[in-house]
Amino acid sequence: MSILVTGGAGYIGSHTAAELIEKKEDIIILDNLERGHKEAVLGGKLIVGDLRDKDFLKKVFSENQIEAVIHFAAYIEVGESVVDPLKFYNNNVISTLNLLSAMNEAGVKKIVFSSTAATYGEPENVPIIESDKTLPTNPYGETKLTVEKALKWADKCLGIKHVILRYFNASGAHISAKIGEDHNPETHLIPIILQVALGKRDDIKIFGNDYGTPDGTCIRDYIHVTDLADAHVRALNKLRADNTSEIYNLGNGKGFSVKEVIDIARKVTGQPIKEVLAPKRTGDPAILVASSQKIINELKWAPRYDKLETIIETAWNWHKSHPKGYNI
Ligand code: UFG
Repeated sequence: MSILVTGGAGYIGSHTAAELIEKKEDIIILDNLERGHKEAVLGGKLIVGDLRDKDFLKKVFSENQIEAVIHFAAYIEVGESVVDPLKFYNNNVISTLNLLSAMNEAGVKKIVFSSTAATYGEPENVPIIESDKTLPTNPYGETKLTVEKALKWADKCLGIKHVILRYFNASGAHISAKIGEDHNPETHLIPIILQVALGKRDDIKIFGNDYGTPDGTCIRDYIHVTDLADAHVRALNKLRADNTSEIYNLGNGKGFSVKEVIDIARKVTGQPIKEVLAPKRTGDPAILVASSQKIINELKWAPRYDKLETIIETAWNWHKSHPKGYNI
């Protein structure tokens, strides 16, 4: 039996696939390669196709023995979701409904779903716990929350069990530097800072310095992508062991401001990294920090790369060896 990894050629998907391969799992990666990279696939079988194509999906499930699905395939850029929300509903919600239908028809009853801290919106408590209110402030977070709700009913009515993982700020790269983060265009803080360090950009723009935080810049909880990957393997094994649905946050429980991240990157890279002040970005909450106590207690998850220096160092090793991303 195989584990189907949708979006397995993407950033978090490829690192999870690598972790599954290491654990000797039999995997099938399904990716349309619109944003994923075939070079990020380190093993397993790659099937290129789109979740919006129902006939294609049906074929994937009928031609393969699939035990469970780990579902990453989605659009992820918050800014892009505000510009084109319907595209996000189409790719993130409708595709997942197609996937769930195909799973239901094929009798596949286990799914690990890639969700996000963006489902919370402006947090009511810091650190955020899973039972806090969910009120997304952008279409991206709303599409992920919509899928979470569909999963609840797919469980209650169809017996499809889920583990939902709400990630905070995924960052870093595989320790081997063979795979890493390559988005086009890049919008995330750490890769952009490292592109400045590499001389590919002139400066890092700090989006606002009058937030209600000690240095005025936004605080986020950065979590290493391999620690996220490990949590997916644990989530899969939880479904195998007790077949019950659950939601977990995934972060390191420690927040860093934009300025702190830039300072640590200066130390790691030894480069000056010029910063300039820029206007605030719409919909950016001041502080997002996770409590991951639930997954620590229940799945014995423990981050291996919880120091921001190490997270940035792994990302730096990837960026130095792949200055053009997967195009080397
Ligand atoms: N930032 C800058 N300059 C930049 C880029 C980012 O100042 O050039 C700031 C942002 O304003 C934010 C912080 O750096 O305060 C982190 O920004 P990212 O774009 O790296 O990440 P976000 O926190 O906006 O979002 C990320 C993922 C989302 C996910 C969210 C959950 O991109 O998909 O984390 O916390 F929903």
